[in-house]
Amino acid sequence: MADTHRISFEPVNIEMEVREDEPILDAAFRQGIHLMHGCREGRCSACKSFVMEGEIQMEDYSTFACNDAEVAEGYVLLCRSHAFSDCTIELLNFDEDELLNSIPLQEVRTEVLDIVQHTRDIVGLKLRPVEPAVFEYKAGQYADLTIPGTTAYRSFSMASAPATTDHVEFLIKKYPGGKFSALLDKGISVGDTIDLKGPYGNFTLKDGHVMPIVLIGGGAGMAPVLSLLRRLSETGEQRKIRFYYGARTARDLFYLDEIRALGSSSPTSNSSSASRSLPTALKNSESSASRETSRKSSGRTSPS
Ligand SMILES: Cc1cc2nc3c(=O)[nH]c(=O)nc-3n(C[C@H](O)[C@H](O)[C@H](O)COP(=O)(O)OP(=O)(O)OC[C@H]3O[C@@H](n4cnc5c(N)ncnc54)[C@H](O)[C@@H]3O)c2cc1C
Ligand code: FES
Repeated sequence: MADTHRISFEPVNIEMEVREDEPILDAAFRQGIHLMHGCREGRCSACKSFVMEGEIQMEDYSTFACNDAEVAEGYVLLCRSHAFSDCTIELLNFDEDELLNSIPLQEVRTEVLDIVQHTRDIVGLKLRPVEPAVFEYKAGQYADLTIPGTTAYRSFSMASAPATTDHVEFLIKKYPGGKFSALLDKGISVGDTIDLKGPYGNFTLKDGHVMPIVLIGGGAGMAPVLSLLRRLSETGEQRKIRFYYGARTARDLFYLDEIRALGSSSPTSNSSSASRSLPTALKNSESSASRETSRKSSGRTSPS
């Protein structure tokens, strides 16, 4: 069993335990402490923090995320950091509401319920939580799905809304040879087991905000946006919502009927100016997608 140490986070005055063999970020998730993060692979710098006291060593990371001068000063990436003594760490980015009020990390055994081809390269994957039978998350968050038969995983955003408890939906762009996504053509079938770990991510709705909501999503990257739209529709959100939805060509757009329906059921769609309503934003995106079509595009789009 690896040695454990105590970590104190400043200026939030939160303490937790960490084992030497686990990244500090993972230890925080395990204990329900939701630190700021992004890639969890040492590439984005969202988890960059300052070591005030203690011995920390980092695994491989990108110097774009934390350069040598920063490391020499005491900055670390918590997703790549292991503690070898008790430490005091200053958090540079944190959301006080989320820190201790986030949904704890869950490990869920799921069963493949459905695989739907939405466009030429985007597939919908519906998973039914089996053990435990419910997966809790907030709209806009993501989960890690284990690549069947391996211990490796890939991250995917939930497209379903949390109130839909009988399944969790993901929208996945297929890459030729992709270790996970290519299995959706051949390798993953209805009834198979897939292990899920989550939720992760900060792309969530914050309580008490009153400003209009602007959402932008393209391709499979619209998954977390769809989750938010579904959630906003369920809660009868009163704020104005504008959704810009794009794709390389018009035939790469999908779920249009549902997005239109979500727009027309939104209270904001009854507002006097149609330009403020969600379906109008969709119309804009459809026309831009059509323009793209005429350009005879080639190559692939980014998933998110
Ligand atoms: C927080 C987060 C959320 C994500 N949410 C989603 C989501 O909702 N839907 C979704 O489809 N994906 C999402 N992704 C991306 C996803 O995790 C995988 O990276 C992607 O599906 C490729 O995995 P793979 O195993 O199929 O391909 P791999 O085996 O990892 O790669 C196969 C080939 O494709 C190339 N490739 C991989 N990713 C890209 C890319 N983005 N652009 C161009 N080439 C690429 C690789 O270089 C390689 O040549 C998300 C990623 C993160 C970090
Ligand atoms: S989460 Fe991206 S560098 Fe740590």
